[in-house]
Amino acid sequence: MPFIIAGNFKMNGVLAGVQPYAEALKAAESKAKLIICPPFPLLPAFAAALPATTALGAQDCHARPSGAHTGDVSATLLREIGATHVILGHSERRADHGETNADVSAKVFAALAAGLIPIVCVGETEPQRDAGEAEDIVKTQLRHSLPENFTGLIAYEPIWAIGTGRTPTPADIAAMHAAIRAALTDSFPATGPATPILYGGSVKPENAAAILALPQVGGALVGGASLKAADFLAIAAAAPAV
Ligand code: PGA
Repeated sequence: MPFIIAGNFKMNGVLAGVQPYAEALKAAESKAKLIICPPFPLLPAFAAALPATTALGAQDCHARPSGAHTGDVSATLLREIGATHVILGHSERRADHGETNADVSAKVFAALAAGLIPIVCVGETEPQRDAGEAEDIVKTQLRHSLPENFTGLIAYEPIWAIGTGRTPTPADIAAMHAAIRAALTDSFPATGPATPILYGGSVKPENAAAILALPQVGGALVGGASLKAADFLAIAAAAPAV
């Protein structure tokens, strides 16, 4: 399976940036699988402009297929306009919008029902890591954020590493990814052993090769460094050949 490099634009990007970004991706050859996750309004423009080999993802969806939910977007509509993936349970949504594990699980269920591939985010805070609770916190998030029929991708994103320039040690990343693999294999014997586990949190061109070479790391979820196509492509180029 190729490495997966997903770009989470968060609330960044403008319409004028879509074409140049897509052209840069078209001009490069990537052995990794690329996924671009821009803000909702840019999805149709990216769907039209991206090379066919690059996948398109949203950053959230609602748990219901339609209805009176002002400001929300359904997984069905995302699928219809060309998204294939959706980031769910990102720590910024858990913090800014009070999303619980149960909310995330319901969204994952809706995404799967609509034919989207969920990228489910988990990760501990710094006090939780300092207290030695990181693995337990992440295992609890996994247990309650994934519905019984889960398939898709997991992104391990320590909250204190997001946007800070700080990353866990290679040993800590490897240990957490091994713990996530064990938990997935336990809960989902058929798919858990092969579920890609991405690392996210201050991934940049300078540290990507070291992180992507760690055992059980199947790719990266990249925030800030995905905003420039050149940096995003440099991260993708650091992925080991498979
Ligand atoms: P960052 O964000 O790469 O800017 O740290 C990662 C993420 O939040 O997905």
